Amino acid sequence: MSGQDTPRHLWAWDLSALVYEWSYVKVAHQIDTDMLAYLGNRVVGAVVADCGCGPGVVTEKFLRAGAARVVAIDANASMIARARLRLAPWGSTGAVLLRHASHEATTLLELREQALAGRGFDVVLFKRSLYMPRPRALLTLRQAAAALHTRGTIIVAHPERSLRRYAFAPPVGVASYTPFHLGNRAISRLLECCGAEEYTLYTGTELAALLREAVPGAQVQCLPSQQRPYNLVALHMS
Ligand SMILES: C[S@@+](CC[C@H](N)C(=O)[O-])C[C@H]1O[C@@H](n2cnc3c(N)ncnc32)[C@H](O)[C@@H]1O
Repeated sequence: MSGQDTPRHLWAWDLSALVYEWSYVKVAHQIDTDMLAYLGNRVVGAVVADCGCGPGVVTEKFLRAGAARVVAIDANASMIARARLRLAPWGSTGAVLLRHASHEATTLLELREQALAGRGFDVVLFKRSLYMPRPRALLTLRQAAAALHTRGTIIVAHPERSLRRYAFAPPVGVASYTPFHLGNRAISRLLECCGAEEYTLYTGTELAALLREAVPGAQVQCLPSQQRPYNLVALHMS
């Protein structure tokens, strides 16, 4: 482990690792599609940090889209083991670096110095991995901004706080994901109460405000997404 040496062990992620790929439903894939469509050709040759990479599903998509290098970071050893299996085809190419660490504190800055010879990241992604309480999220985003290459981008994909948007289709109907999302939120809130998971959520406006406060002066943009349950926000260093 590096950066924040002993992050709190949130054992909910151990359970999640067992079923994660199964639970990677269409909605989550759509977020990836929207995010990659937004980045377009900027992915080609990019150096990317996938923070809270889980089993490496998005890391693999970045590599297939032409990223030069992806540093995949996760605090959970089971997730890293799954990501290692998934990303084995790139194992000998040097295009992937797996790091078992928290992406909080100085991890990204250390990686920039140790693994990228001081060159910053073109893209830092937090997809469903910024659930820590707001003050720590602010610090984490500031460290990520400091680890960016000139004109780099931070992207955050995070579940919507409003249950109406997270679980239901407009105007009040159910969607294919409704049972899964309702169950997921109930379990996450329960685990949060037990101290086994962190689960801070934001509306789209709150998420954009978080990024603006983290890096004053940066350009913050809410990205179009076909998925109501998630918010997709980008921060550009200007
Ligand atoms: C819901 S999963 C998302 C995985 C992946 N980003 C995706 O969307 O497919 C959240 C992941 O973030 C990781 N995670 C949560 N907080 C983290 C932290 N502070 N540092 C590193 N990883 C973290 C968890 O271990 C878990 O694997």
